[in-house]
Amino acid sequence: MQICLGSSCFSRGNRDVVNYIRNYLKKNHLEDKIVFKGARCMNLCSNGPNLRINDRIIEGVTLAKIEAILEKEIGNIR
Ligand code: FES
Repeated sequence: MQICLGSSCFSRGNRDVVNYIRNYLKKNHLEDKIVFKGARCMNLCSNGPNLRINDRIIEGVTLAKIEAILEKEIGNIR
């Protein structure tokens, strides 16, 4: 999983989402199972903030939506 930390996505919310995801992985003991990294601009700024999970881009990520996104995408790994 990669979170876009390019300036547009970062300033529009991923600054906080990155911390949320880190805490989520820790809380759910997924740090060993999920590789989570920051990424440079994905060239999709206008649709961002963006997250990439298994080569699929999830657009319009917000702090309000991130928990549901993680539950849907990786909740079955626990
Ligand atoms: S800054 Fe995220 S896609 Fe450009």
